[in-house]
Amino acid sequence: MKNLTTKVLAITVLVIAFQSSFAQSKVKWTAPSSASSVKNPLAGNTSILKDAKVLYQSTCAPCHGEKGKGNGPAAASLNPKPADHSSAAVQGQTDGELFWKMSEGRNPMPAYKAILKDEQRWMLVNYLRTLKK
Ligand code: HEC
Repeated sequence: MKNLTTKVLAITVLVIAFQSSFAQSKVKWTAPSSASSVKNPLAGNTSILKDAKVLYQSTCAPCHGEKGKGNGPAAASLNPKPADHSSAAVQGQTDGELFWKMSEGRNPMPAYKAILKDEQRWMLVNYLRTLKK
């Protein structure tokens, strides 16, 4: 019995160690190739930018910051840090890739596919383009 307890304990410690090392890891976040060529139905639409900004400021800015620099009020406590939406690394991705990442999320970034409508996520893709450095 004592032996079993030791084993259970050892496994628990291993699982926790694995999970925390996974959470800390800097594995690059890449959208699947099927996502990259998905067409943006709002491509070139600037009339939605005003509403998109309001949505961004309320939903994304707490982590990503008002200007998308990745420095919102919640950013300090997060690991990994929120992405800088003005950066070449983000701006270099296709609309489809950015849409996919917003949809799926990656801890601690929430998945927005069940929270925001497709149209709202495409609006945010267009808004992200206005944050380019
Ligand atoms: C709770 C904090 C939080 C909120 C709210 C949040 N994000 Fe994020 N976001 C993150 C973090 C952290 C990352 C980096 C994740 C990683 O690299 O694993 C990220 C990454 C991203 C990326 C990927 C950038 C890259 O490097 O490829 C996009 C796109 C993105 N966020 C868009 C948004 C949008 C749009 C919203 C609002 C609808 C939003 N995020 C809301 C925390 C957040």
